[in-house]
Amino acid sequence: NNLWDVIMIDEKTGILLLSHGSRLDDGEEVIKAYTEMYKKEYPEIAIEYGFMEIRKPGIPETINKLTKDNDLEKIIVVPVFVAHGLHTKRDIPGLLGIESNFNEDDAHDHGHHHHHHGHGHGHGHHHHHHDDEEEEFEFDGEIILTDPLGVDTRVYDIIKDRISEHL
Ligand code: NI
Repeated sequence: NNLWDVIMIDEKTGILLLSHGSRLDDGEEVIKAYTEMYKKEYPEIAIEYGFMEIRKPGIPETINKLTKDNDLEKIIVVPVFVAHGLHTKRDIPGLLGIESNFNEDDAHDHGHHHHHHGHGHGHGHHHHHHDDEEEEFEFDGEIILTDPLGVDTRVYDIIKDRISEHL
């Protein structure tokens, strides 16, 4: 991809690959592999993976890990989700403590089980129903939450492969 080749190496930027989180190990194996692929290709850029719920490391711990050894001005958070949903539009911005233009009225939300709150710019604050420990992070830089994977012919090719394997 030509775009990646011209990107300036930016030591002030950290990256967080964000997965949903599961009690099973499969999801971690996938997000860890993508993180290691990126690390190998761009060793100068700080990158970590984390989970929005259920599994550790969570968002605050991952951001603390990124900022501990790096003097970052910006963190780019990539939700490795197929599509937008309540998590990417509401819950993850809340956990990151960033603005969300999400409108509850758009959500047809019939008693969703998640309950997340964010306070202020870059000060994440996370209450979870299932564990009592509270994690926090402090980051005064910019946090950018990207779009999820979305519709892309590269993903479509994988879908076709999965079908072809059984035709
Ligand atoms: Ni969930």
